[in-house]
Amino acid sequence: SVFGLGYVGLTFGVCLASREFKAIGVDVESGKVEAVNRGEAPFYEPGLSELLRDALERGLFRATTDARGAVLASDVTFICVGTPSLPDGSADLKYVESAARAVGRALREKEGWHLVAIRSTVPPGTCGGHVKKTLEEESGKRAGEGFGLCANPEFTKEGSAVNDTFNPDRIVIGELDERSGSFLESLYREFHGGKPPPIVRTSLVNAELIKYASNAFLAMKVSFINEIANIAQRVPGADVEVIARGIGFDKRIGPLFLRAGLGFGGSCFPKDLRALIGFSESLEHEPKILKAVLEVNERQPYKAIELAKALVGSLEGKKVAVLGLAFKPDTDDIREAVSLKVVRALLSEGARVVVYDPKAMPNARRVLGGSVEYATSAEECLKGADCAIVVTEWDEFKRLKPEDFIRFMRTPAVVDGRRVYDHMEFIGKVRFAAIGLGPLGGS
Ligand code: UGA
Repeated sequence: SVFGLGYVGLTFGVCLASREFKAIGVDVESGKVEAVNRGEAPFYEPGLSELLRDALERGLFRATTDARGAVLASDVTFICVGTPSLPDGSADLKYVESAARAVGRALREKEGWHLVAIRSTVPPGTCGGHVKKTLEEESGKRAGEGFGLCANPEFTKEGSAVNDTFNPDRIVIGELDERSGSFLESLYREFHGGKPPPIVRTSLVNAELIKYASNAFLAMKVSFINEIANIAQRVPGADVEVIARGIGFDKRIGPLFLRAGLGFGGSCFPKDLRALIGFSESLEHEPKILKAVLEVNERQPYKAIELAKALVGSLEGKKVAVLGLAFKPDTDDIREAVSLKVVRALLSEGARVVVYDPKAMPNARRVLGGSVEYATSAEECLKGADCAIVVTEWDEFKRLKPEDFIRFMRTPAVVDGRRVYDHMEFIGKVRFAAIGLGPLGGS
């Protein structure tokens, strides 16, 4: 059983089913459960709907609100519910707590041993502390005897969650006891067939910290390259893309997560960084690097406004086209998306803002309401605009040529916030600025 039908839980459940495991998805929202049982994923994730429909047809996956039934009918329960930020930045554990209560209550009635694995991102100490206590209280059984417990963080990215689930770089199993860890390891060995990825078996608390450290490191790479981009932008002839390529070949650095842009967003990096900072401070350690990673990221979206102003002057009364709202391509998720900051800053500069995103329009409407105009295509978004800003690097935007901007815009001025264009093709044809691209010239 898999608790939580968000992008982590639903993807994981459906992937289990596609490898012949019988999986039951559990969620408290009946609307979500019904949609899933009709074969409709409640969010956009490439490849997921097809796998879901196939798993439903083959009877290997179903969704339910019946937590008790799901636990009783399964050998292992994966808890994959959200851990959003509280106002003070710490992780809100209310969904983990209520899932653990429901699982614990069901375990009271269960005869055999059952494994509970926490895949949600939880602060170090949560699994061995609060989760264990809750499960024991509700079940009347002792962890390590009546049931097993693992911290089993996931490292899937939105937009490639299916592929990441089938091909993870590693599997991390934090275990309360040997039996729990061995059970989960054999499940993953079966899931991955002949070629399992490296499996790291460790304590609960190390597994929890590995998750936070991974996300913090990746976020640090992004803020690092954005810092370099901001320096390069002031240096004639410099280009952060070339610099990233040049440093990425060093095996100690690696080429990934070095795409400079308007900063990171999404439901994970900002929230997990804040939670790790809070956790660190609760231990009376000031995490200077983590704080700097967040600070650089807070400022980065406003680079789009600076560049737009450098191209077209004051934005007061100008029509600005915002291309891309999702926090990254291939998702409809706008949680902590950079686009929201860009849009709000444009509005406060007095600009008229038109937005377009291939997938995130319904979610954006709920947040931005009547403050902006909504276009139904990139072309419509550009029509009559004085400036265009690429905020999310969708393929659809990558395909736009300088001629498209010239044809549709009132004054073709393009801010490439995600480095999707070959600047040599654009410069000279349209007014053009890009993150991390210094003034032409220099040596
Ligand atoms: C992130 C991690 O990459 C996953 O390993 C982890 O499992 C997940 O959080 C989680 O904790 O659940 P996700 O937030 O879905 O995944 O997306 P990423 O691909 O990591 O992108 C995060 C943000 O960083 C996006 O806004 C993206 O545009 C930005 N980014 C990423 C850059 O600006 N530059 C890069 O080079 C890479």
